[in-house]
Amino acid sequence: MTAAQLIRWLWRDYLQPWRWWFGLAMVLMSIEGATVGALSLLVKPMFDRVFVGGSPQAVLWVAAMVGGVFLLRALTGLSHKIIMARLGERIVAAMQGDVLRHLLTLDQSFYTRHPPGSLIERTRGDSGAIRNLASQVVAALGRDLSSLISVLAVVLWIDPVWTLVAVAGVPLLLLPIMALQRLVRKTSRKARAAAADNATRLDEIYHGVTTIQINGIETREADRYRQAQNRYIRQQMRAEAGSAAIPALIDIVAAIGLAGVLTYGGYQIVGGEKTVGEFMTFFIAMAAVFDPLRRLGAISGAWQSTRASLDRVVQLLQTPARITSPAQPAPVPADRGRMDLAFEDVSFGYGDGVAVLRDLSFTAEPGRTTAIVGPSGAGKTTLFKLLTRMADPDTGRITVAGTDLRDLDLGDLRGLYSVVAQDTALFDETIRDNILLGRTDVTEAQLAAAVEAAHLDGVVASLPRGLDTPAGPRGSALSGGQRQRVAIARALLRDAPILLLDEATSALDAASERMVQDALDRLSRGRTTLVIAHRLATVRSADMILVMQAGRIVERGRHDDLVAQDGVYAQLCRLQFAE
Ligand SMILES: Nc1ncnc2c1ncn2[C@@H]1O[C@H](COP(=O)(O)OP(=O)(O)OP(=O)(O)O)[C@@H](O)[C@H]1O
Ligand SMILES: [Mg+2]
Repeated sequence: MTAAQLIRWLWRDYLQPWRWWFGLAMVLMSIEGATVGALSLLVKPMFDRVFVGGSPQAVLWVAAMVGGVFLLRALTGLSHKIIMARLGERIVAAMQGDVLRHLLTLDQSFYTRHPPGSLIERTRGDSGAIRNLASQVVAALGRDLSSLISVLAVVLWIDPVWTLVAVAGVPLLLLPIMALQRLVRKTSRKARAAAADNATRLDEIYHGVTTIQINGIETREADRYRQAQNRYIRQQMRAEAGSAAIPALIDIVAAIGLAGVLTYGGYQIVGGEKTVGEFMTFFIAMAAVFDPLRRLGAISGAWQSTRASLDRVVQLLQTPARITSPAQPAPVPADRGRMDLAFEDVSFGYGDGVAVLRDLSFTAEPGRTTAIVGPSGAGKTTLFKLLTRMADPDTGRITVAGTDLRDLDLGDLRGLYSVVAQDTALFDETIRDNILLGRTDVTEAQLAAAVEAAHLDGVVASLPRGLDTPAGPRGSALSGGQRQRVAIARALLRDAPILLLDEATSALDAASERMVQDALDRLSRGRTTLVIAHRLATVRSADMILVMQAGRIVERGRHDDLVAQDGVYAQLCRLQFAE
């Protein structure tokens, strides 16, 4: 995005609702800026009428004017800072909300490429850069531009030739400043990327703290983090040095210009062509020209680094959602008894060139239970991801009750499923909230029934605050089996026509598993059910068993038939039931 596009986008999407406040702040900034010109202007009567002229009345009004100008400066400065701070925070919040909402529409492939830590840094850190824009760039721009204009007017009024001498070197700065800006933008971009890497490392370290401690790799992790920090510091330092070099350059040019005026103007005063007051006003005003000029120079650095951040935000916002609802969604299949699921020549890979599912075709009969078994990595969970449209097939199609999944509204489609996933995410809320997930249409009795059926009632009873006990960050206050039962209770309450169970009882002890399995069997009655299981005992009674190997279905049939075939399934059975 070019700078102009970026600014237009900021204006249209974020600044416009605030345009009146923004305008007011700009006016206040210009007033504050203009006070610099006014002050330097007051130096002339101070010298010529008071110090040299010796007029006692002039002392009073000059003093009063100086006091008044300072008061005005204090008041305008305070108010525009408050307005801009508020505006900055509001805009940051709005942008973060937009980023979050957009990221929530993106699919698996995006989240495999962008780890949570880096996304947190990008949502928070990079959109937070707007704060800089509001408090430093815009504020300095409004104030310093106006002080620059006001003092330039004063110095030109005093003596245009002096002014020319003083600023003669400024155009020379153009090229070096442009080069520095490019450097700052490039290094800022790298620094932002490095900051995101840092955040990723921290996220992985804090989430994996148990693994780190058990394996004794604390030092290694701390070292790796330090290296990531060093990479960030290196880039950030280059960006900061580049930013600081711009005002430094302006200082050098200012020094040369002022020395020139001092020599030239000094002779004129000695010769009696100019008054001391004129010279002092000029000198002070000129110093005041370079001050805002220096700050404006610093702005260009700040803008470049803000831009690097905003570019990254825009990039996120422009990542297209690949899995979306169609413009005109097909009606949701209504007949709960006829929810057959069909895969037709489906092939799929995670975008890395490796085919995970190859030409898969099968139908899960409505109201029946279809089991999927096969070695780890065969593609079983992937199959569920395609069913819930966490990803779309590369070729072929999947239908529910004859309708292509892609023709349905995403929300409607996902509403057709109750899912117990292989690794359910729990949130840092109470167990009750984790089961309900925001639903308000569930009675206490229904909740209790689901908790009981999921065999969670014993667990809940033993907890100090029962259902209102917090589950801990990511559910870490619960055991693996307890977490799984929370997921099962969720699914039981959902009452959706299709049931997807991925190793739903794998973390339970034998006794709990039998009881939960009973509840799930009851739930699956009349529902189209797909079950993934490693423990073959749980799928024995399935209406159809699909045996998967390396992304293909290699055998299919009922348990007895498959055993009779004496193939892969029969061998798996022998292994498991031999014990
Ligand atoms: N997000 C992903 N990105 C890239 N590859 C993936 C991703 N998820 C899974 N895979 C790959 O796809 C293949 C199938 O994975 P899948 O999770 O479907 O296996 P599975 O049959 O469910 O195995 P398990 O029984 O261990 O759960 C694996 O080889 C895995 O490496
Ligand atoms: Mg799996």
